[in-house]
Amino acid sequence: MAQTNYRLCVILILHFQNTMKKGSPAQVVTIVADFDRTLTKYIHKGHVCATCHYVLEEGSLPELYKEKARTLRDTYFPIETNPKLSVEEKIPKMIEWWTKSHGLLETCEISRDSIQHCVSSSTAKLRDGCSWFFDELKKYEVPVLIFSAGIGDIIEEVIKQQSTMHDNMHIVSNYMKFNEKGQMTGFQNAIIHVYNKNENAIHDSAYFQNIEHKTSMILMGDSLGDLHMADGAEVDHKLKIGFLNTRVEESLELYKKKYDIVLVEDETLDVPNNLLRSILER
Ligand code: C5P
Ligand code: MG
Repeated sequence: MAQTNYRLCVILILHFQNTMKKGSPAQVVTIVADFDRTLTKYIHKGHVCATCHYVLEEGSLPELYKEKARTLRDTYFPIETNPKLSVEEKIPKMIEWWTKSHGLLETCEISRDSIQHCVSSSTAKLRDGCSWFFDELKKYEVPVLIFSAGIGDIIEEVIKQQSTMHDNMHIVSNYMKFNEKGQMTGFQNAIIHVYNKNENAIHDSAYFQNIEHKTSMILMGDSLGDLHMADGAEVDHKLKIGFLNTRVEESLELYKKKYDIVLVEDETLDVPNNLLRSILER
């Protein structure tokens, strides 16, 4: 089910189509997309699918780790998705969640070589139509930024196994650090969690400077934190597509206020793909 501010969307799509007259898609359009539950499914065949972090929990890690990680998720996921809490209230809790879960992962002696199998045996699943989405954007050389509070190493592997990682795609996420024996020892940079995607430290990266001169942007996310993934990039037109996967009744009005299109319990990329067709293939 799609919930849309039709007038605004039509205006935005017309703007997008007009900008195409000013240059090639590669010059004028950019995509910024979240990963977990935006490019991947929330539900597949009635079962909740794994996020990047959960991929590791489904793998062969010690039972004690799995139990602790599950307790953390049961505590913090309801806070992440609670529409009644403000972002300010959520931020300290999200920092707690990511700090504790990354601390736990560091105790598990994860090997770089195990990631491939963890992903192939996991329930993480790209949305239906995701390969077409990636291929189409590559065809027109549109830059794609995947900006995720998940784990970069897992994202790369999911895309590699289920689709294609093209050279127009760039990932900003939490990347693991490995020692010379290939064992995970921690994470490379400061934590990216769902509600700090607006932080300057992240946006100062060369990649963000690269997208700032585009005129049109499609932003895709499933969390209200994702709305800030491109803060600071001064594009003329930004079309925001939100996936509302859970707590639909309590969150719908808020999502409709914040996103231009809200896709409710939709496990496909059909709407963004149709949009791309109307913009790129005219
Ligand atoms: O790609 P995205 O930014 O959506 O990745 C973050 C997601 O990972 C969050 O929505 C959160 O629910 C999930 N997460 C998790 N386990 C953790 C930390 C985050 O499943 N330990
Ligand atoms: Mg997400």
